Amino acid sequence: MRQEIERLRQEIERHNYLYHVLDRPEISDGAYDRLFRRLLELEAAYPELVTPDSPTRRVGAPPAAGFAAALHAIPMLSLANAFSAVEIRDFDGRVRRLLGRDEVTYVAEPKLDGLSVELVYRDGRLVQGSTRGDGVTGEDVTANLRTIRSVPLRVRSIDGKVPALLEARGEVYVDREDLVSLNRGREKEGLAPFANPRNLAAGSLRQLDPRVSASRPLKLFCYDVGRLVGLEVETQKELLETLARLGLRSNPLYALCHGIEEAIAFYERLERERESLPYDADGVVIKVNDLTLRRTLGEISRSPRWAIAAKFPAEQGVTRLEEIQVQVGRTGVLTPVAILEPVRVRGVEISRATLHNEDEVKRKDLWVGDTVVVQRAGDVIPEVVGPLPERRTGSERPFVMPTTCPACGGPVVRLEGEVAHRCLNISCPARIKESILHFVSRGGFDMEGFGPKLVDQLVDKGIVRKISDLFRLDRETLVGLERVGEKSAGNLLAALERTKSIRLPRLFFALGIPEVGEHMAEVLAAALPDLGRILDATKEGLVAIPEVGPRTAEGIVDFFQNRENRDLVQALLEAGVRPTAAEKRVSTALAGKRFVFTGTLASLTREEAGERAKGLGGAVSSSVSARTDYVVVGENAGSKADEARALGVKTLTEAEFLALLEGRG
Ligand code: IVH
Repeated sequence: MRQEIERLRQEIERHNYLYHVLDRPEISDGAYDRLFRRLLELEAAYPELVTPDSPTRRVGAPPAAGFAAALHAIPMLSLANAFSAVEIRDFDGRVRRLLGRDEVTYVAEPKLDGLSVELVYRDGRLVQGSTRGDGVTGEDVTANLRTIRSVPLRVRSIDGKVPALLEARGEVYVDREDLVSLNRGREKEGLAPFANPRNLAAGSLRQLDPRVSASRPLKLFCYDVGRLVGLEVETQKELLETLARLGLRSNPLYALCHGIEEAIAFYERLERERESLPYDADGVVIKVNDLTLRRTLGEISRSPRWAIAAKFPAEQGVTRLEEIQVQVGRTGVLTPVAILEPVRVRGVEISRATLHNEDEVKRKDLWVGDTVVVQRAGDVIPEVVGPLPERRTGSERPFVMPTTCPACGGPVVRLEGEVAHRCLNISCPARIKESILHFVSRGGFDMEGFGPKLVDQLVDKGIVRKISDLFRLDRETLVGLERVGEKSAGNLLAALERTKSIRLPRLFFALGIPEVGEHMAEVLAAALPDLGRILDATKEGLVAIPEVGPRTAEGIVDFFQNRENRDLVQALLEAGVRPTAAEKRVSTALAGKRFVFTGTLASLTREEAGERAKGLGGAVSSSVSARTDYVVVGENAGSKADEARALGVKTLTEAEFLALLEGRG
């Protein structure tokens, strides 16, 4: 069995490599999933054969308490910048002078805009991953890096050998498209979008819960090494190729340049074509190819003399701020939005940009009618940088936040300590429309056909005044609406009928409780498997659930204290909505099981472990008896472990317990 499991792991690792590193998958996603599931099944049946570097173990290490410091044996330097061909030639001049050569061979690579990391492999196994930090000391984010599919947990051998020590360095980044779709989802959940790939990469890796990084579409490109023992490489080109052969993804897009002019040509070409790259590059890194020459050149003030970052100019456009519209969101927050005369920046037309809140408009001193600078400098989300005050004609008007809601005319307030203005009218049509759109969205009731145009009509005509009214719609009413025929009315009614049985977590999400996104909804549903229990949950009860913080708990309690929200739940039940319990993805293995913890656990305290078991329906006792189901044995465990063995009670290692919590045991 050990052999079969090992064979499967190697097979899966090979497909990971083909897919993530070479971009040349040999099997379908379905076939890959089958292999992966088979391995999961075998590991569940033979937990003693589970190893930490199995491809199934990428997620699973529990939230750590802060990050440990990780020392870089060789400092991770930063790069000096050049902003033009002239400055790139200056760099080449210095290099040639110091080396006493007429021409130097360079490698030019796209400069990715992400977060730089170091991955330490000993005898081929990933033992540590860290952020750059200040260059000497970074943060140990091993658990998070392990969740990235293009980070191999074991390197591939070259000619049957793996290097005894490899400190690979590279950039964690996200593809632009992935950032856009992630942000779309976040906005639906009422979460702030990530402004650029760098923020996302940093925000995901510097996260205490690896499940968060696991859920983010992060990728890695390696471009450098620290220490390397057991392999010889002489040039940057060889280094990039060797990294790829070891299974460490390196960017196939680079140029070997004989002389600086070829490097400048690459820089200029990439600047023109950067839109066609799947990721954001903010420049080109030009490096001396020969590693021996690099050592001769050395470094100066934390930057190597052998490399330079040739940055692309920030991409900005100039246009007119035609209007500042104020939008009302689901929670009543008023957001000023810049309506711009359309302008193309980096091949993308910009016609609107959020201005976030009144303070931001004031800080930037934006007036309606201003000529403004807009940019997408490596940033996916367009931004208004500021006005060109010298272009003012005197006809510009300052922006004032309305004192009444633009949608319902109700009062607008700015609560103390908040930057946001809010409409307080719970029945404000704009809020109702947004709430309905959230309610029917994919993470919620997922009702096809209920788009903004339909929802506008329903609310404007007074047919739907609150969400539960949706369930009272009939064919006659629907057919009376614009653009709704017999057929689509039928589809809408069928969608409503279908959704009467909905998974509880989706219902929790759909309600639009502050701070409760899709993940939190799952967490809540696992801990509070019926609707009634969340209605009357207390703050204390809620914070006892793992992952629920005081803010979220407060948001939930406040939400259900509100009459309207309680009525909504009641109305849903009356309309025949029957939430089904969360799929027992995590809880079946633990429900009703009695746990005893003994010894010291490495990644969490016994109390925390107990809380997590209880959160999933388990019970905890302090002494072992025949009725105990599992004894979790940590370091330096005493007599309880022996008692368990004597009574024939199953013992678990910490890793096995965590696997059980994750639903993998
Ligand atoms: S080489 C000693 N290559 O740019 C220099 N860096 O300002 C080692 N970066 O911290 C870095 N793409 O985060 C190198 N192809 C590339 C890069 C790259 C992005 C980042 C990296 C580094 C920063 C330097």
